[in-house]
Amino acid sequence: MSKKPFYITTPIYYPSGNPHIGHCYTTLACDLVARYKRMQGFDVMFLTGTDEHGQKIEKKAEEAGVTPQKYVDDIVEIFKKLWERIGITYDRFIRTTDDYHVESVQKIFKELYDKGFIYKSEYVGKYCTPCEAFWTESQLVNGKCPDCNREVADAREEAYFFKLSAFSEKLEKLLTENADFLQPASRVNEMINNFIKPGLEDLCVSRTSFKWGVPVEFDDKHVVYVWIDALSNYITALGYKNSRYDDYSEYWPADVHMMAKEIVRFHSIIWPAMLMALDLPLPKKVYGHGWITFNGAKMGKSTGNVIDPFILADRYGVDALRYHLLREMPFGSDCAFSNETMINRLNSDLANDLGNLVSRTVAMVIKYFDGTLISERVESEADKELLNMAAALKDVVEENYDSFHFSVALSEIFKVISRANKYIDENAPWVLAKDESKKARLATVLYNLLEVIRVTTILLSPVLFTTTPKIWEQIGATNDDVIWGKSGELNVLRKNVTVKKGEVLFPRIDIDKEIEELNAVLDGKSNAPKIELEPEITIDDFMKCELRVGLVKSCEPVKRSEKLLKFQIDDGMGGRQILSGIAKYYKPEDLIGKKITFVANLKPAKLCGEISQGMILSAEMEDGSAKLIFPDESVPVGSKIR
Ligand code: MSP
Repeated sequence: MSKKPFYITTPIYYPSGNPHIGHCYTTLACDLVARYKRMQGFDVMFLTGTDEHGQKIEKKAEEAGVTPQKYVDDIVEIFKKLWERIGITYDRFIRTTDDYHVESVQKIFKELYDKGFIYKSEYVGKYCTPCEAFWTESQLVNGKCPDCNREVADAREEAYFFKLSAFSEKLEKLLTENADFLQPASRVNEMINNFIKPGLEDLCVSRTSFKWGVPVEFDDKHVVYVWIDALSNYITALGYKNSRYDDYSEYWPADVHMMAKEIVRFHSIIWPAMLMALDLPLPKKVYGHGWITFNGAKMGKSTGNVIDPFILADRYGVDALRYHLLREMPFGSDCAFSNETMINRLNSDLANDLGNLVSRTVAMVIKYFDGTLISERVESEADKELLNMAAALKDVVEENYDSFHFSVALSEIFKVISRANKYIDENAPWVLAKDESKKARLATVLYNLLEVIRVTTILLSPVLFTTTPKIWEQIGATNDDVIWGKSGELNVLRKNVTVKKGEVLFPRIDIDKEIEELNAVLDGKSNAPKIELEPEITIDDFMKCELRVGLVKSCEPVKRSEKLLKFQIDDGMGGRQILSGIAKYYKPEDLIGKKITFVANLKPAKLCGEISQGMILSAEMEDGSAKLIFPDESVPVGSKIR
């Protein structure tokens, strides 16, 4: 039987700055669902990627003195590294600069034009550059961007427009009659009252004032509005109007587009209208979760209040980071991120409740049964409450995972884990162990605990993906014992199961000490020495300095100096002599034939009677010594360094 497809997407992120905890939340939520659906037997397509065009990126690249492509390439690598670090199991990564996507966007734009849904006119209004959003006067709030509350600029230019207004009725019907389409339900009213009721205006979908975008194929002084380009990713990534992929018919319509609330408008109004115009099916669900806030505002690059997820993953482990974010964010609402809450949560849920349950249970099986349980059992009324809770858990968790109430699902799982810890105290295995005639009862109690650990960790495994396999090894579960379906069954482990002592799963954290250290690291005040930088220079200042690669033809000490070495350098321009104060750290003969880097346009100077025509680059070590900066050997002599 072929597997049922399940298609889930994150927004494609702007690579305009490094990713932060806010970006992690959506991606982790999707990863949880993707892992869970795969375990349930679905054929999952989990898409993420980057949204790389637009004026904002063009500006950032200009400020950084690099091409937009180079600018995004570097940041996209960081996003990919982060996703790998925190265990994101995406199936496809789309970049809007990928050729196949560009080709599809051009075709989509052309089709909308040919069908009469896109027409040429003039745009007069306001533009918010950071949000890449056009606004009419009436949409502004106190004259500012209604999304980010920043200044907007006047904009007037020839532009293409999408007939969004033509879809008003259909969109209102979609939002009001299909309760599944947009969730949580509160977002529906926001969309109807703030956007549809005041009247949808046609949307400006091309720009001529900058270049970094997908050119309109039939009028290439225009680039396609970045949101038309970006939203299309959900189908171009499946091969819609391109030959790079061909699974559009398998996965479309998407089961869910996941995102935070600020971009729900684009996904529940503009995107469905585009699809209606293209005569394509609509996604089954758009889900807008809340924001992770920090110091009272949405965590984001532009507000500067970001927390670096690499640091948290390194300090607490990926599972702890994943668990904290998914456990803390309430359904549909915002969640204030705080280091204290995070550490308290890790201590209470992971170290105390789950970690202790596993280590105590395994330790008792080792202590009282040498690691292997006996098969005899004596059941009791006292087992019922815990076992009933465990048996019912799978349905509760599935219902909550399916409706994206991740925090509720995790809290339900931990209720059972806490109940199991209480069960240990109630049944006092250490007392049973003293009485040989109670051996079978003792084995029953410990077996029940192992079973509860098995059930709860299967259900936790889409979140705690690194720790759960370690726990399964400790409780002696086989691969078959921990498949998803078996989380709804009890008495799955062999009766005479053998456990194995393992490492501490979640070390308890000393909160006061940790907060101090973590804050220092997050503020950049870690143990690293504070570095005072020279006054800032502009890119033009830097460009005045010409750095090049040279080859050492000869090198010898300077007679009247203990410090200086005299180099004859092949500089690709006929050669030159340079003196360098590194005699104490290098033997001249070791440097001959090596490529070095040097300042090529430094005013010549005389040192100890010898002329020096430049400066060889070296790093200053903490002890005051110097180490030369050698370029890669494949770099040709004379190459300019930027
Ligand atoms: N490029 C657009 C999306 C295009 S989708 C066709 C964009 N990118 S973004 O980089 O700004 O990322 C937006 C998404 O990142 C949010 O919708 C949300 O999923 C996630 N988050 C970014 N900051 C966040 C928080 N502080 N809290 C929660 N989610 C956050 O918009």
